[in-house]
Amino acid sequence: MPSYEEVFRRSTEDPEGFWLDAARGIDWDVAPTRALDPARAPFYRWFPDGELNVCHNALDRHVDAGRGAQDALVYDSPVTGSRRTYSYAELRDRVAAFAGVLVGLGVGRGDRVVVYMPMVPEAVVAMLACARIGAVHSVVFGGFAANELAVRIDDARPKVVVSASCGIEGKRVVPYKPLLDSAVELAEHRPEACVVLQRPEYVAEPGPLDVDWEAAVREAEPAPCVSVAATDPLYILYTSGTTGKPKGVVRDCGGYAVALRWSMEAVYDVGPGEVMFTASDVGWVVGHSYIVYAPLLAGATTVLYEGKPVGTPDAGQFWRVAQEYGVKTLFTAPTAFRAIKKVDPEGELARQYDLGALTYLFLAGERLDPETYHWASELLGIPVVDHWWQTETGWPIVANPMGIEAAPVKAGSPTWPLPGWDVRVLDPAGKPVAAGEDGAIVVKLPMPPGALPTLWNDDDRFVASYLSAYDGFYLTGDGGHVDEDGYVFVMGRTDDVINVAGHRLSTGGMEEVLAAHPDVAECAVIGVADSLKGQVPRGFVVLKAGVASEPAVVEAELVQLVRDRIGAVASLKDVAVVAALPKTRSGKILRRTMRGIADGLDEPVPSTVDDATVLDALRPVLTRRPSAGEK
Ligand code: COA
Ligand code: AMP
Repeated sequence: MPSYEEVFRRSTEDPEGFWLDAARGIDWDVAPTRALDPARAPFYRWFPDGELNVCHNALDRHVDAGRGAQDALVYDSPVTGSRRTYSYAELRDRVAAFAGVLVGLGVGRGDRVVVYMPMVPEAVVAMLACARIGAVHSVVFGGFAANELAVRIDDARPKVVVSASCGIEGKRVVPYKPLLDSAVELAEHRPEACVVLQRPEYVAEPGPLDVDWEAAVREAEPAPCVSVAATDPLYILYTSGTTGKPKGVVRDCGGYAVALRWSMEAVYDVGPGEVMFTASDVGWVVGHSYIVYAPLLAGATTVLYEGKPVGTPDAGQFWRVAQEYGVKTLFTAPTAFRAIKKVDPEGELARQYDLGALTYLFLAGERLDPETYHWASELLGIPVVDHWWQTETGWPIVANPMGIEAAPVKAGSPTWPLPGWDVRVLDPAGKPVAAGEDGAIVVKLPMPPGALPTLWNDDDRFVASYLSAYDGFYLTGDGGHVDEDGYVFVMGRTDDVINVAGHRLSTGGMEEVLAAHPDVAECAVIGVADSLKGQVPRGFVVLKAGVASEPAVVEAELVQLVRDRIGAVASLKDVAVVAALPKTRSGKILRRTMRGIADGLDEPVPSTVDDATVLDALRPVLTRRPSAGEK
């Protein structure tokens, strides 16, 4: 087995050879003769002359190879008390049937389909059905409200929306259909049809655009796989930036399939027939890559879990799932482990299950705090692997690659850059910093296959957001350092993006909502440290002169407004009316200083502050810290 150093060196010295070799892990209709196409740099393309179908690689390929009876997908839903296993052959047939439904509705290659669904197998079926016919899916996380869905519908301009009547959050039924209806109302773009999966927990009234999932599938002609260019888009996944307008991250077909397939063995050490349980949501990149595409590309079994790590029915569900299905690799966000630890600090529930098959725990989505790392390591006695990546990158940038070589762990670091990722740390002038010094974490272009080639219909924003800060580098938006042993430490975002329970959110987007309230003169939203969710947003507003309403009334209205406009996932539960916001002499709100004070850091008053008394008056409000769930 080559060492990490050898593999990494080959990826930098011979990237063409390295990625063409990796491309052999995929079935091509037309095999690529070249890996990287730099002709339109910085819009790099991978495998420019290759043709393939990603759904074929995820399903048909394994059936054709005689493994149709093997489990492809396990659906486990403690919130509905149901579970089901789908073999590769059965999943292929279901996907082909639903692909036929989409074709019947006029969806073809390049058309967009928005998927707004809870964690049910039909969400996976809808995604793969799009891939099968060359359509482009855009999955919207179920915790977003109608307005956010409408914004995405207007940007992606889907021919069809696929949804469900409801989701289940703990014991609560969350009707999705009314949200879908108001999103379609709000959006300027009108989809031609909405396919709705009726769930028994809430049966929705069909509207004029609606097509019933079950009835449509019964009548559909199964659709075959369509060959597409490797550079064709597979999906658009919207993610938070610094404003309320989400960025439509584009994912290509060929580069993504190659990178994911490669990562399954090299990083996650999961092969055909082995079981991967990624406890996330299909609405996030982690769900796209490691619930849906990568495990199926590798011929493994993927677990689709509908529920929380704690609550319904208890905090032992991850262990139950691990035992029941023989999970080898479990992947979730650190916040899930903090939630379990809070309820079961001694790990008594874990000890009730046979976790003999569980070989690795992978964590990502936010910084893995050393305390959670140590707790999980001691509890499970297996490698606990922190790894760092983003919606934009599609797969990990930095990880401890279990299938190549397990490096000694340094708590707080996701370890080393993976092959293809040339990670650097720069100072504001664009100069490399010394080992151990903090700066902006960037990636030298070109990025490896799988990383975003651009933003949907917005090449300019792609360049402005990611490529313009440092010439020749992709700006990750994260700050941190690389130590003398090459270990990368990712310390946090350098922009207004926050991470709440592993969910990426924009404080700028929340400020836009608060500012729209008629009583609000100005506002600031900051992310403050939270022992369970990592970060939670807090809002501070100054009211217009002469507003007669009680501050508490306005505060409650503002909390509700954010929930209505962005969605419950925003988790903004604390908005305070204050007399003034601290600013620099040029009028910029001192959000970073506010955040430092709220996090209990010993923040000195910056020299640029306009009026130090404003900051002093705010200190007691900032340091009052209701924890998640208290409000
Ligand atoms: N549909 C509708 N509502 C949703 C939703 C969905 N798919 N997902 C979340 N919500 C709602 C929640 O019910 C909650 O509503 P509430 O304020 O009325 O209680 C709100 O959005 C916030 O959700 P969340 O931040 O997830 O908080 P939580 O208290 O429900 O759960 C954790 C906290 C830590 C248990 C949970 O976030 C978790 O397991 N996270 C780890 C896994 C993960 O999802 N990672 C993502 C990237 S890897
Ligand atoms: P998302 O695009 O939703 O996956 O969020 C990406 C962001 O989450 C990154 O830019 C980081 O800020 C954060 N993040 C993800 N994984 C890690 C990690 N292992 N360590 C530190 N931060 C992380």
